[in-house]
Amino acid sequence: MAQTTRVALLFGGRSAEHDVSLVSAAAVYKNLDPRKYQVLSLYITKAGRWKVVSSPLASRRELARGRGLDFLPWTKKDRGVGLRADIYFPVLHGPFGEDGTIQGVLEMAGVPYVGAGVLGSALGMDKASSKALLKSAGLPVVPFRVVLETSWRKDRAGLLRLVRKEFRLPFFVKPSNLGSSVGITKVKKDKNAAAALETAFRYDRKVLVEKGIAGRELECSVLGNEEPEASVPGELIPSREFYDYSDKYIDGKTGFVIPARLPAARVAEVRRLAVAAFRALNLAGMARVDFFLEQTSGRLYINEVNTIPGFTEISMYPRLWAASGLRFPALVDRLIALGFERHRTRRVCVERAR
Ligand SMILES: Nc1ncnc2c1ncn2[C@@H]1O[C@H](COP(=O)(O)OP(=O)(O)O)[C@@H](O)[C@H]1O
Ligand SMILES: [Mg+2]
Repeated sequence: MAQTTRVALLFGGRSAEHDVSLVSAAAVYKNLDPRKYQVLSLYITKAGRWKVVSSPLASRRELARGRGLDFLPWTKKDRGVGLRADIYFPVLHGPFGEDGTIQGVLEMAGVPYVGAGVLGSALGMDKASSKALLKSAGLPVVPFRVVLETSWRKDRAGLLRLVRKEFRLPFFVKPSNLGSSVGITKVKKDKNAAAALETAFRYDRKVLVEKGIAGRELECSVLGNEEPEASVPGELIPSREFYDYSDKYIDGKTGFVIPARLPAARVAEVRRLAVAAFRALNLAGMARVDFFLEQTSGRLYINEVNTIPGFTEISMYPRLWAASGLRFPALVDRLIALGFERHRTRRVCVERAR
């Protein structure tokens, strides 16, 4: 039998998307071919402790049990269970996982890992920075304004006037740095604007105000390093006013249309923009790029990128690849190969620079 690759799955984590990560990791785990991979399951608690568990399918009791480690002792052993693996696969959504922090730990350790590096991950998590960069690359983003908490506290009335002059109702207010629709408000009446900003500032000191787009929501999966490829686009049909937290994780009534019903030219445009966004943001491995297609103008806007998109069996990222001819097990094979490839090319550069 050929030698197996030891893959460490990192899941759970300190963000609000802890539970989604468990479901994503379970799906990745089930799709790792046991003839090729040996899996090391590293569960990160909500408090940030690391534990070696049997698999992402471990019971809640097993996850809760045991002491765990505060930080990675790369060379030591934790009660006989080493944390060493050939490659690390962060299946962590949101802050402390998708935002470059875990990628920094893995860079420091000098080990290969799946997905975007520190810069791409950090950019992907920060909506204000990613939109600024996409815009400067000439890519279409929804008109927006960034409001810092300090300036908001100094002159609320002045800022509200500015926002109202710049944006027609309804507009959106969102924290720059979160996911899962947490802290996002669709403002339909003037009198609700101040409360919407206050809500967003509970989660971040940087907030985005955006033109509200009436239209369709499209998503496209990207895979690759230097020569990324895009999947067929899919469409998401929120069951509520917008695709909010309960729609994503509680009601589960969101409709997915895969592939999206679109004319061929539009499909090509979505795929071209998805790859361009991936490149502009220094991404690697994988990303899901989300779009709005405006009803009245027919214009396509890039809404956001997710560098560790949902990975459950019913998530858009793997389903769009399946619809494009790449099934889940082959997809994880590719992601792991891309992680090794990126590590090799980076190591050469690092050594040259020494
Ligand atoms: N500018 C906007 N116009 C219309 N709908 C929006 C806008 N911004 C956000 N939404 C709605 O809110 C949802 C969540 O916003 P998004 O920016 O994708 O944040 P998250 O990172 O939490 O997914 C979107 O899927 C969409 O339904
Ligand atoms: Mg989103």
